[in-house]
Amino acid sequence: MDKLIIEGGVPLTGSIEISGSKNAALPVLFASILVTEPVCFRNVPNLHDIHTTLKLLNMLGYSCAYRERRVTVTPGDLLPEAPYDLVRTMRASVLCLGPLLARVGQARVAFPGGCAIGTRPVDQHLKGLELMGANIELKNGDILGRCRKLKGARITLDMPTVGGTENLLMAATLAEGETILENAAREPEVVDLANFLIACGAHIEGHGTNRIRIAGTSGLHGVEYAVMPDRIEAGTFLVAAGITGGELLLRCCPVDELEAVILKLRDMGMDISATPDGMLAKCAHPLRCVDVTTKPYPGFPTDMQAQIMALMCLAEGAGVVNESIFENRFMHVPELMRMGSDIKISGHTAMVRGVRHLTGAPVMASDLRASASLVLAGLAAGGTTEVSRLYHLDRGYERIEDKLTLVGARIQREKE
Ligand code: UD1
Repeated sequence: MDKLIIEGGVPLTGSIEISGSKNAALPVLFASILVTEPVCFRNVPNLHDIHTTLKLLNMLGYSCAYRERRVTVTPGDLLPEAPYDLVRTMRASVLCLGPLLARVGQARVAFPGGCAIGTRPVDQHLKGLELMGANIELKNGDILGRCRKLKGARITLDMPTVGGTENLLMAATLAEGETILENAAREPEVVDLANFLIACGAHIEGHGTNRIRIAGTSGLHGVEYAVMPDRIEAGTFLVAAGITGGELLLRCCPVDELEAVILKLRDMGMDISATPDGMLAKCAHPLRCVDVTTKPYPGFPTDMQAQIMALMCLAEGAGVVNESIFENRFMHVPELMRMGSDIKISGHTAMVRGVRHLTGAPVMASDLRASASLVLAGLAAGGTTEVSRLYHLDRGYERIEDKLTLVGARIQREKE
Protein backbone atom coordinates (compact mmCIF):
# COMPACT_ATOMS: atom_id res chain seq x y z
CA MET A 1 0.00 0.00 0.00
CA ASP A 2 1.23 3.47 -0.85
CA LYS A 3 1.33 6.60 1.27
CA LEU A 4 1.90 10.26 0.49
CA ILE A 5 4.55 12.27 2.33
CA ILE A 6 3.82 15.99 2.27
CA GLU A 7 6.01 18.83 3.53
CA GLY A 8 3.44 21.58 3.94
CA GLY A 9 3.57 25.36 3.88
CA VAL A 10 4.34 26.07 0.21
CA PRO A 11 1.91 28.42 -1.62
CA LEU A 12 0.99 26.60 -4.84
CA THR A 13 1.40 28.58 -8.05
CA GLY A 14 1.08 27.63 -11.71
CA SER A 15 -1.40 25.80 -13.86
CA ILE A 16 -3.05 22.39 -13.61
CA GLU A 17 -5.01 20.53 -16.26
CA ILE A 18 -8.25 19.00 -15.04
CA SER A 19 -8.83 15.36 -16.05
CA GLY A 20 -11.98 13.74 -17.38
CA SER A 21 -14.67 13.10 -14.78
CA LYS A 22 -14.65 9.75 -13.01
CA ASN A 23 -18.33 9.98 -12.12
CA ALA A 24 -19.26 10.80 -15.72
CA ALA A 25 -16.94 8.19 -17.27
CA LEU A 26 -18.29 5.27 -15.21
CA PRO A 27 -21.95 5.54 -16.36
CA VAL A 28 -21.07 6.16 -20.02
CA LEU A 29 -18.82 3.09 -19.99
CA PHE A 30 -21.70 1.03 -18.57
CA ALA A 31 -24.03 2.59 -21.16
CA SER A 32 -21.94 1.03 -23.91
CA ILE A 33 -23.64 -2.26 -22.92
CA LEU A 34 -26.72 -0.85 -24.67
CA VAL A 35 -24.91 -0.28 -27.95
CA THR A 36 -24.46 -2.97 -30.59
CA GLU A 37 -21.46 -1.33 -32.29
CA PRO A 38 -18.01 -0.33 -31.02
CA VAL A 39 -17.94 2.87 -28.97
CA CYS A 40 -14.91 5.08 -28.46
CA PHE A 41 -14.52 7.39 -25.45
CA ARG A 42 -12.01 10.23 -25.11
CA ASN A 43 -10.86 12.05 -21.97
CA VAL A 44 -11.28 8.97 -19.76
CA PRO A 45 -9.19 9.45 -16.58
CA ASN A 46 -6.57 6.83 -15.78
CA LEU A 47 -8.05 5.73 -12.45
CA HIS A 48 -8.50 2.54 -10.52
CA ASP A 49 -12.33 2.65 -10.77
CA ILE A 50 -12.11 3.02 -14.55
CA HIS A 51 -9.93 -0.09 -14.82
CA THR A 52 -12.34 -1.98 -12.52
CA THR A 53 -15.19 -1.01 -14.89
CA LEU A 54 -13.22 -2.19 -17.94
CA LYS A 55 -12.48 -5.46 -16.16
CA LEU A 56 -16.18 -5.92 -15.47
CA LEU A 57 -17.13 -5.09 -19.07
CA ASN A 58 -14.57 -7.67 -20.21
CA MET A 59 -16.16 -10.27 -17.91
CA LEU A 60 -19.57 -9.40 -19.37
CA GLY A 61 -18.23 -10.28 -22.82
CA TYR A 62 -17.09 -6.91 -24.19
CA SER A 63 -13.58 -6.25 -25.28
CA CYS A 64 -12.16 -3.01 -23.93
CA ALA A 65 -8.86 -1.30 -24.61
CA TYR A 66 -7.49 1.66 -22.63
CA ARG A 67 -4.80 3.78 -24.26
CA GLU A 68 -3.84 7.37 -23.48
CA ARG A 69 -7.22 8.33 -22.06
CA ARG A 70 -9.11 6.70 -24.90
CA VAL A 71 -11.26 3.64 -24.38
CA THR A 72 -12.77 1.49 -27.10
CA VAL A 73 -15.55 -0.89 -26.09
CA THR A 74 -16.40 -3.57 -28.67
CA PRO A 75 -19.45 -5.79 -28.14
CA GLY A 76 -19.12 -9.58 -27.97
CA ASP A 77 -21.23 -12.45 -26.61
CA LEU A 78 -22.88 -11.22 -23.43
CA LEU A 79 -22.61 -13.10 -20.14
CA PRO A 80 -24.83 -10.93 -17.91
CA GLU A 81 -23.19 -11.62 -14.52
CA ALA A 82 -21.38 -9.12 -12.29
CA PRO A 83 -19.66 -11.02 -9.46
CA TYR A 84 -19.32 -9.81 -5.86
CA ASP A 85 -15.50 -9.70 -6.11
CA LEU A 86 -15.77 -6.72 -8.44
CA VAL A 87 -18.98 -5.12 -7.16
CA ARG A 88 -17.66 -4.91 -3.59
CA THR A 89 -14.61 -2.93 -4.75
CA MET A 90 -16.77 -0.48 -6.69
CA ARG A 91 -20.42 0.13 -5.84
CA ALA A 92 -21.00 1.86 -9.18
CA SER A 93 -20.84 -1.65 -10.77
CA VAL A 94 -24.58 -1.82 -10.06
CA LEU A 95 -24.92 0.54 -13.04
CA CYS A 96 -24.68 -2.51 -15.33
CA LEU A 97 -28.05 -3.78 -14.07
CA GLY A 98 -30.35 -1.49 -16.07
CA PRO A 99 -28.38 -1.79 -19.33
CA LEU A 100 -28.17 -5.62 -19.08
CA LEU A 101 -31.91 -5.96 -18.47
CA ALA A 102 -32.65 -3.61 -21.35
CA ARG A 103 -30.27 -5.35 -23.71
CA VAL A 104 -30.67 -9.06 -22.94
CA GLY A 105 -33.59 -9.29 -20.50
CA GLN A 106 -31.58 -10.87 -17.70
CA ALA A 107 -28.87 -10.03 -15.19
CA ARG A 108 -27.22 -11.37 -12.07
CA VAL A 109 -25.46 -8.53 -10.26
CA ALA A 110 -24.01 -8.90 -6.78
CA PHE A 111 -25.89 -6.72 -4.29
CA PRO A 112 -23.53 -3.86 -3.40
CA GLY A 113 -22.85 -3.70 0.33
CA GLY A 114 -22.49 -0.55 2.39
CA CYS A 115 -19.35 1.53 2.43
CA ALA A 116 -17.50 3.88 4.77
CA ILE A 117 -19.85 6.80 4.13
CA GLY A 118 -23.12 4.96 4.69
CA THR A 119 -25.40 2.04 3.90
CA ARG A 120 -26.18 3.35 0.39
CA PRO A 121 -29.17 1.22 -0.60
CA VAL A 122 -30.22 0.65 -4.23
CA ASP A 123 -33.96 0.27 -3.58
CA GLN A 124 -34.81 3.10 -5.99
CA HIS A 125 -32.90 1.43 -8.83
CA LEU A 126 -34.80 -1.81 -8.20
CA LYS A 127 -38.20 -0.16 -7.73
CA GLY A 128 -37.83 1.66 -11.06
CA LEU A 129 -36.84 -1.49 -12.94
CA GLU A 130 -39.80 -3.36 -11.43
CA LEU A 131 -42.13 -0.58 -12.58
CA MET A 132 -40.67 -1.14 -16.06
CA GLY A 133 -41.76 -4.78 -15.87
CA ALA A 134 -38.61 -6.50 -14.59
CA ASN A 135 -38.90 -9.31 -12.11
CA ILE A 136 -36.33 -8.68 -9.38
CA GLU A 137 -35.28 -11.21 -6.75
CA LEU A 138 -32.54 -11.12 -4.15
CA LYS A 139 -30.82 -14.48 -3.81
CA ASN A 140 -27.56 -15.48 -2.13
CA GLY A 141 -26.36 -11.90 -2.09
CA ASP A 142 -27.16 -11.33 -5.78
CA ILE A 143 -29.79 -9.25 -7.52
CA LEU A 144 -31.45 -11.49 -10.10
CA GLY A 145 -33.32 -9.56 -12.76
CA ARG A 146 -35.41 -10.94 -15.59
CA CYS A 147 -37.85 -9.51 -18.13
CA ARG A 148 -39.16 -10.25 -21.60
CA LYS A 149 -38.84 -6.65 -22.74
CA LEU A 150 -38.72 -3.59 -20.46
CA LYS A 151 -41.76 -1.33 -20.80
CA GLY A 152 -41.84 2.43 -20.45
CA ALA A 153 -43.23 3.60 -17.09
CA ARG A 154 -43.81 6.68 -14.97
CA ILE A 155 -41.32 6.48 -12.10
CA THR A 156 -41.17 8.92 -9.20
CA LEU A 157 -37.96 8.53 -7.24
CA ASP A 158 -38.14 8.95 -3.46
CA MET A 159 -34.98 11.06 -3.62
CA PRO A 160 -33.01 12.40 -6.61
CA THR A 161 -30.49 9.55 -6.56
CA VAL A 162 -27.68 9.98 -9.09
CA GLY A 163 -26.96 6.29 -9.68
CA GLY A 164 -30.68 5.43 -9.65
CA THR A 165 -31.44 8.08 -12.27
CA GLU A 166 -28.53 6.83 -14.41
CA ASN A 167 -29.52 3.15 -14.18
CA LEU A 168 -33.16 3.87 -15.10
CA LEU A 169 -32.26 6.37 -17.82
CA MET A 170 -30.07 3.74 -19.49
CA ALA A 171 -32.71 1.02 -19.13
CA ALA A 172 -35.44 3.25 -20.55
CA THR A 173 -33.59 4.02 -23.79
CA LEU A 174 -34.27 0.50 -25.11
CA ALA A 175 -37.66 -0.02 -23.38
CA GLU A 176 -40.92 -0.25 -25.27
CA GLY A 177 -42.75 3.10 -25.10
CA GLU A 178 -42.21 6.21 -23.01
CA THR A 179 -40.61 6.48 -19.57
CA ILE A 180 -40.92 9.53 -17.37
CA LEU A 181 -38.49 9.86 -14.47
CA GLU A 182 -39.82 12.28 -11.85
CA ASN A 183 -37.63 13.70 -9.08
CA ALA A 184 -34.64 12.73 -11.20
CA ALA A 185 -31.09 13.78 -10.29
CA ARG A 186 -29.94 16.92 -12.12
CA GLU A 187 -26.19 16.35 -11.69
CA PRO A 188 -23.98 17.30 -14.68
CA GLU A 189 -22.81 13.67 -14.89
CA VAL A 190 -26.44 12.59 -15.55
CA VAL A 191 -26.58 15.21 -18.31
CA ASP A 192 -23.31 13.90 -19.76
CA LEU A 193 -24.75 10.38 -19.80
CA ALA A 194 -27.93 11.60 -21.53
CA ASN A 195 -25.83 13.47 -24.11
CA PHE A 196 -23.85 10.31 -24.83
CA LEU A 197 -27.04 8.25 -25.23
CA ILE A 198 -28.55 10.91 -27.52
CA ALA A 199 -25.37 10.83 -29.63
CA CYS A 200 -25.97 7.05 -29.96
CA GLY A 201 -29.53 7.66 -31.18
CA ALA A 202 -31.59 7.66 -27.94
CA HIS A 203 -34.61 9.95 -27.56
CA ILE A 204 -34.26 11.87 -24.29
CA GLU A 205 -35.64 15.23 -23.15
CA GLY A 206 -35.47 17.11 -19.89
CA HIS A 207 -32.02 15.90 -18.69
CA GLY A 208 -30.66 18.49 -16.29
CA THR A 209 -34.19 19.01 -14.88
CA ASN A 210 -35.97 16.85 -12.33
CA ARG A 211 -38.28 15.38 -15.01
CA ILE A 212 -36.62 13.30 -17.71
CA ARG A 213 -38.64 11.89 -20.57
CA ILE A 214 -37.30 8.97 -22.60
CA ALA A 215 -38.94 7.51 -25.70
CA GLY A 216 -37.62 3.97 -26.08
CA THR A 217 -35.92 2.99 -29.30
CA SER A 218 -35.06 -0.41 -30.79
CA GLY A 219 -31.27 0.01 -30.98
CA LEU A 220 -28.36 2.38 -30.43
CA HIS A 221 -25.39 2.93 -32.72
CA GLY A 222 -21.69 3.46 -31.96
CA VAL A 223 -20.12 6.92 -31.60
CA GLU A 224 -16.97 8.64 -30.40
CA TYR A 225 -17.62 10.66 -27.24
CA ALA A 226 -15.50 12.92 -25.00
CA VAL A 227 -16.21 12.65 -21.26
CA MET A 228 -16.80 15.97 -19.43
CA PRO A 229 -14.05 17.35 -17.15
CA ASP A 230 -14.11 16.47 -13.45
CA ARG A 231 -15.85 19.19 -11.41
CA ILE A 232 -14.85 17.60 -8.10
CA GLU A 233 -11.17 17.36 -9.03
CA ALA A 234 -11.36 21.01 -10.14
CA GLY A 235 -13.07 22.02 -6.87
CA THR A 236 -10.36 20.20 -4.90
CA PHE A 237 -7.63 22.20 -6.67
CA LEU A 238 -9.54 25.46 -6.07
CA VAL A 239 -9.36 24.62 -2.37
CA ALA A 240 -5.64 23.78 -2.77
CA ALA A 241 -5.04 27.34 -4.02
CA GLY A 242 -7.02 28.73 -1.06
CA ILE A 243 -5.52 26.60 1.70
CA THR A 244 -1.92 27.30 0.63
CA GLY A 245 -2.50 31.02 -0.09
CA GLY A 246 -1.40 30.42 -3.69
CA GLU A 247 -2.56 31.16 -7.21
CA LEU A 248 -3.65 28.40 -9.58
CA LEU A 249 -4.96 28.42 -13.12
CA LEU A 250 -7.13 25.38 -13.80
CA ARG A 251 -7.21 24.46 -17.47
CA CYS A 252 -10.09 22.45 -19.02
CA CYS A 253 -12.10 23.38 -15.94
CA PRO A 254 -15.89 23.13 -15.82
CA VAL A 255 -17.30 26.51 -14.74
CA ASP A 256 -21.12 26.47 -14.60
CA GLU A 257 -21.09 23.01 -13.00
CA LEU A 258 -18.95 24.34 -10.14
CA GLU A 259 -21.09 27.36 -9.35
CA ALA A 260 -22.18 26.36 -5.84
CA VAL A 261 -18.56 25.61 -4.87
CA ILE A 262 -17.20 28.81 -6.40
CA LEU A 263 -19.85 30.91 -4.61
CA LYS A 264 -18.92 29.39 -1.22
CA LEU A 265 -15.19 29.84 -1.82
CA ARG A 266 -15.81 33.47 -2.80
CA ASP A 267 -17.89 33.93 0.39
CA MET A 268 -14.86 32.66 2.28
CA GLY A 269 -12.76 35.39 0.63
CA MET A 270 -11.14 33.63 -2.33
CA ASP A 271 -10.73 35.46 -5.58
CA ILE A 272 -11.94 33.16 -8.39
CA SER A 273 -12.48 34.24 -11.98
CA ALA A 274 -12.98 32.67 -15.39
CA THR A 275 -10.24 33.57 -17.88
CA PRO A 276 -9.86 32.56 -21.56
CA ASP A 277 -7.45 29.81 -20.40
CA GLY A 278 -9.57 28.40 -17.59
CA MET A 279 -10.40 29.26 -14.02
CA LEU A 280 -7.99 31.40 -11.98
CA ALA A 281 -8.08 31.02 -8.19
CA LYS A 282 -6.15 33.27 -5.79
CA CYS A 283 -6.12 33.77 -2.12
CA ALA A 284 -4.48 36.98 -1.03
CA HIS A 285 -6.21 37.56 2.34
CA PRO A 286 -7.06 35.46 5.36
CA LEU A 287 -10.22 33.46 4.68
CA ARG A 288 -13.32 33.34 6.89
CA CYS A 289 -15.50 30.36 7.83
CA VAL A 290 -18.95 29.99 6.26
CA ASP A 291 -21.89 27.65 6.78
CA VAL A 292 -22.28 24.86 4.23
CA THR A 293 -25.10 22.36 3.70
CA THR A 294 -24.60 19.61 1.12
CA LYS A 295 -27.50 19.23 -1.30
CA PRO A 296 -28.28 17.48 -4.59
CA TYR A 297 -27.14 19.48 -7.64
CA PRO A 298 -27.28 22.44 -8.15
CA GLY A 299 -26.63 22.63 -4.38
CA PHE A 300 -23.24 22.27 -2.70
CA PRO A 301 -21.90 18.76 -3.57
CA THR A 302 -21.34 16.23 -0.81
CA ASP A 303 -18.19 15.23 -2.74
CA MET A 304 -16.67 18.65 -1.84
CA GLN A 305 -17.72 18.66 1.83
CA ALA A 306 -14.50 17.21 3.26
CA GLN A 307 -12.32 19.54 1.18
CA ILE A 308 -14.12 22.77 2.15
CA MET A 309 -14.03 21.63 5.78
CA ALA A 310 -10.22 21.36 5.57
CA LEU A 311 -10.16 24.93 4.26
CA MET A 312 -12.40 26.15 7.09
CA CYS A 313 -10.05 24.58 9.65
CA LEU A 314 -7.56 27.37 8.83
CA ALA A 315 -10.05 30.22 8.25
CA GLU A 316 -11.13 32.94 10.69
CA GLY A 317 -14.24 32.53 12.83
CA ALA A 318 -16.52 29.50 12.95
CA GLY A 319 -18.83 27.75 10.52
CA VAL A 320 -21.30 24.88 10.45
CA VAL A 321 -21.04 22.05 7.93
CA ASN A 322 -24.25 20.09 7.54
CA GLU A 323 -24.06 16.79 5.60
CA SER A 324 -27.55 16.04 4.28
CA ILE A 325 -26.81 13.34 1.68
CA PHE A 326 -24.85 10.57 3.42
CA GLU A 327 -25.24 9.44 7.03
CA ASN A 328 -21.59 8.87 7.88
CA ARG A 329 -19.45 11.27 5.91
CA PHE A 330 -17.35 12.88 8.66
CA MET A 331 -14.62 10.22 8.78
CA HIS A 332 -12.00 12.87 7.97
CA VAL A 333 -12.84 14.83 11.12
CA PRO A 334 -10.85 12.79 13.69
CA GLU A 335 -7.87 12.82 11.32
CA LEU A 336 -8.09 16.61 10.79
CA MET A 337 -8.21 16.91 14.59
CA ARG A 338 -4.95 14.96 14.83
CA MET A 339 -3.47 17.82 12.82
CA GLY A 340 -4.71 20.42 15.31
CA SER A 341 -8.07 21.49 13.92
CA ASP A 342 -10.99 22.37 16.18
CA ILE A 343 -14.14 20.53 15.05
CA LYS A 344 -17.15 19.25 17.00
CA ILE A 345 -19.60 16.81 15.48
CA SER A 346 -23.23 16.51 16.48
CA GLY A 347 -25.18 14.09 14.30
CA HIS A 348 -25.06 15.31 10.70
CA THR A 349 -23.51 18.62 11.68
CA ALA A 350 -19.91 19.64 12.28
CA MET A 351 -18.98 22.94 13.93
CA VAL A 352 -15.57 24.11 12.71
CA ARG A 353 -13.65 26.82 14.57
CA GLY A 354 -10.72 28.06 12.56
CA VAL A 355 -7.21 27.76 14.05
CA ARG A 356 -4.03 29.64 13.04
CA HIS A 357 -1.90 26.59 12.24
CA LEU A 358 -2.21 22.90 11.53
CA THR A 359 0.70 20.61 12.24
CA GLY A 360 1.77 17.66 10.10
CA ALA A 361 0.90 14.19 11.43
CA PRO A 362 0.45 10.61 10.23
CA VAL A 363 -3.19 10.35 9.15
CA MET A 364 -5.29 7.65 7.59
CA ALA A 365 -7.68 8.02 4.70
CA SER A 366 -11.08 6.34 5.03
CA ASP A 367 -12.75 7.21 1.72
CA LEU A 368 -11.97 9.04 -1.47
CA ARG A 369 -12.94 12.62 -0.62
CA ALA A 370 -11.79 12.28 3.00
CA SER A 371 -8.35 11.42 1.60
CA ALA A 372 -8.41 14.55 -0.54
CA SER A 373 -9.18 16.70 2.51
CA LEU A 374 -6.20 15.23 4.38
CA VAL A 375 -3.88 15.95 1.44
CA LEU A 376 -5.17 19.55 1.38
CA ALA A 377 -4.63 19.93 5.12
CA GLY A 378 -1.13 18.46 4.72
CA LEU A 379 -0.29 21.01 2.01
CA ALA A 380 -1.00 23.81 4.49
CA ALA A 381 0.29 22.25 7.71
CA GLY A 382 3.68 22.92 9.25
CA GLY A 383 6.05 19.92 9.05
CA THR A 384 5.43 16.49 7.58
CA THR A 385 2.09 14.84 6.96
CA GLU A 386 1.87 11.19 5.97
CA VAL A 387 -1.41 10.17 4.36
CA SER A 388 -1.74 6.39 4.29
CA ARG A 389 -4.24 4.01 2.62
CA LEU A 390 -3.82 5.83 -0.66
CA TYR A 391 -5.92 3.36 -2.63
CA HIS A 392 -8.96 5.48 -1.77
CA LEU A 393 -7.39 8.57 -3.35
CA ASP A 394 -6.23 6.61 -6.40
CA ARG A 395 -9.84 5.66 -7.14
CA GLY A 396 -10.70 9.26 -7.94
CA TYR A 397 -7.68 11.51 -8.51
CA GLU A 398 -5.39 11.03 -11.48
CA ARG A 399 -1.70 11.49 -10.59
CA ILE A 400 -2.55 13.95 -7.82
CA GLU A 401 1.04 14.08 -6.52
CA ASP A 402 2.42 14.77 -10.03
CA LYS A 403 -0.08 17.56 -10.62
CA LEU A 404 0.66 19.11 -7.21
CA THR A 405 4.44 18.80 -7.67
CA LEU A 406 4.19 20.76 -10.92
CA VAL A 407 2.73 23.72 -9.01
CA GLY A 408 5.34 23.66 -6.28
CA ALA A 409 4.10 21.21 -3.65
CA ARG A 410 6.63 19.09 -1.79
CA ILE A 411 4.83 15.78 -1.99
CA GLN A 412 5.92 12.26 -2.82
CA ARG A 413 4.54 8.76 -2.92
CA GLU A 414 6.19 5.99 -0.92
CA LYS A 415 5.50 2.31 -0.41
CA GLU A 416 4.24 1.60 3.11
C1 UD1 B 1 -23.05 9.35 -6.73
C2 UD1 B 1 -21.56 9.63 -6.87
C3 UD1 B 1 -20.95 10.00 -5.53
C4 UD1 B 1 -21.73 11.16 -4.92
C5 UD1 B 1 -23.22 10.86 -4.87
C6 UD1 B 1 -24.06 12.05 -4.40
C7 UD1 B 1 -20.86 8.19 -8.70
C8 UD1 B 1 -20.10 6.96 -9.12
N1 UD1 B 1 -20.90 8.42 -7.38
O1 UD1 B 1 -23.17 8.23 -5.85
O2 UD1 B 1 -19.59 10.37 -5.74
O3 UD1 B 1 -21.27 11.38 -3.60
O4 UD1 B 1 -23.69 10.50 -6.19
O5 UD1 B 1 -23.85 13.16 -5.22
O6 UD1 B 1 -21.38 8.92 -9.51
N2 UD1 B 1 -30.23 6.26 -1.90
C9 UD1 B 1 -31.24 5.44 -1.46
N3 UD1 B 1 -31.74 4.49 -2.31
C10 UD1 B 1 -31.27 4.34 -3.57
C11 UD1 B 1 -30.24 5.18 -4.03
C12 UD1 B 1 -29.73 6.14 -3.17
O7 UD1 B 1 -31.69 5.55 -0.32
O8 UD1 B 1 -31.77 3.45 -4.30
C13 UD1 B 1 -29.67 7.30 -1.00
C14 UD1 B 1 -28.19 7.04 -0.68
O9 UD1 B 1 -28.03 6.15 0.39
C15 UD1 B 1 -27.71 8.44 -0.37
C16 UD1 B 1 -28.54 9.32 -1.31
O10 UD1 B 1 -29.66 8.54 -1.70
O11 UD1 B 1 -28.00 8.76 0.97
C17 UD1 B 1 -27.80 9.78 -2.54
O12 UD1 B 1 -27.22 8.67 -3.18
P1 UD1 B 1 -26.95 8.61 -4.75
O13 UD1 B 1 -27.31 9.94 -5.35
O14 UD1 B 1 -27.62 7.42 -5.31
O15 UD1 B 1 -25.38 8.42 -4.82
P2 UD1 B 1 -24.57 7.45 -5.76
O16 UD1 B 1 -25.19 7.42 -7.11
O17 UD1 B 1 -24.31 6.18 -5.04
